[in-house]
Amino acid sequence: MKGKFICFEGIEGSGKSTMLRHTEKYLNNKKIKYVITREPGGTDVGKKIRSILLSDKNKICDDTELLLMFADRAQHIHSVIQKNLLKGVNVISDRYIYASYAYQGYGRKISKNTIEILDKIFCSNISIDKCLYFDIDPKIALARIKNRKLDRFEKMNKKFFLDVHKGYKYICKKNSRKVCKIDANQNINKVKDEVIVQISKILKIS
Ligand code: TYD
Repeated sequence: MKGKFICFEGIEGSGKSTMLRHTEKYLNNKKIKYVITREPGGTDVGKKIRSILLSDKNKICDDTELLLMFADRAQHIHSVIQKNLLKGVNVISDRYIYASYAYQGYGRKISKNTIEILDKIFCSNISIDKCLYFDIDPKIALARIKNRKLDRFEKMNKKFFLDVHKGYKYICKKNSRKVCKIDANQNINKVKDEVIVQISKILKIS
């Protein structure tokens, strides 16, 4: 049987990484077959692409950024996602294609049509079963990441994050059947509980 493909999405500081670790513990306890992976950087080649993309020493134009995200994704689909799903292993990815629509589309203002074309050519054989979107007030998210060592994206101005947040809002609405929106402003234990409810529903764990 085919595994399920789930992605976690949200702006930086939304608590996505904490929730992935929590999900990992839960799936281990339940002895469920899964891999947790990420974009960019889910493969050996992808790790190199990620370091190019995230280093603030690199001056990367928006089109290059978009193409590197898709190069990373193509390798990820080929080496990790497809193989595991076919083996019946569930794949949980820290970000997938919605991030390109939100960051490169709404954030960088690359036309939706361009992203859709790349999506169609390189990713149409792999679509998510469900996305858990961690919705947080960008003001709270920015306050949370303030003390981190910031990467090239996290150093962008507030307007960029507001645009990305707006993008996710639109994407969630448009793909409402595939997206489960989780209120990430609430207390962390409540968010954790909601994540487990959703994951167990998607993977049919009792
Ligand atoms: P992420 O690994 O979530 O960052 P962190 O672990 O530091 O929270 O993502 C790295 C950055 O890549 C993030 O700022 C969003 C960006 N990104 C895009 O701009 N487009 C994409 O298609 C993807 C997958 C990520």
